[in-house]
Amino acid sequence: MRPELITERRAKRRLAARAWGVVWLSATGLLLAGCRLDMHIQPKYKPYSPTQFFDDGRSERPVVPGTVARGQLRLDELLYTGKENGALSNRFPFPITRVDLERGRERYNIYCSPCHDYAGSGRGMIIQRGFPQPPSYHIDRLRNAPAGHFFDVITRGLGNMYSYAARVEPEDRWRIAAYIRALQLAEYARIADVPDPERQKLMGENPGFTPGQPK
Ligand code: HEC
Repeated sequence: MRPELITERRAKRRLAARAWGVVWLSATGLLLAGCRLDMHIQPKYKPYSPTQFFDDGRSERPVVPGTVARGQLRLDELLYTGKENGALSNRFPFPITRVDLERGRERYNIYCSPCHDYAGSGRGMIIQRGFPQPPSYHIDRLRNAPAGHFFDVITRGLGNMYSYAARVEPEDRWRIAAYIRALQLAEYARIADVPDPERQKLMGENPGFTPGQPK
């Protein structure tokens, strides 16, 4: 055999042995790593697992009485209930700007108009399809109702109407209440209520214009 062939074979064998060594080392390394417990196993309860440690057998502990979840402290009575000292209030908890009214109109058109219709007379499409008819917003009782009443009906529902509390945030409920006030005003508005320059414009654009009668 040629001497260079012998050294080649030896070199190959050495290489194979080294490769096995690497495999063996990493395998034991992995095994050993698997045996490390440190933080992997902890004495803890998974959610809702029972325990014998507490008398009631529950591993979760009840919250301390009076605990309020973060972000749910609702101390402002007017803002969150529509009431002041327990009575429905006619005051809005924040000043209503044009932006608020426009947001109120948008929310009203989404959530309320399907039944109450765009003008608030209570003949929306769902009513035309057979849902019990709500009263018009333009009856005296609702024109005289405090703004808090609208807030309260949206929040808690009333009779056949279910609550919208899950879909409409408190601030938006007030904006809708303000927009309903605007609808009520619009229904009974006279041409004399329109500011002078606007009135001139309106009359100029519509000769012989007569405002409609309230429903
Ligand atoms: C699915 C239909 C429906 C939708 C949508 C709806 N309502 Fe009503 N609403 C009713 C019905 C029906 C009544 C009458 C309830 C009754 O007296 O049984 C009513 C009554 C009312 C009243 C009169 C309460 C009273 O004192 O008589 C107000 C105010 C009102 N809704 C506001 C709203 C507002 C604001 C929205 C939108 C956030 C809304 N509703 C969405 C069906 C609806």
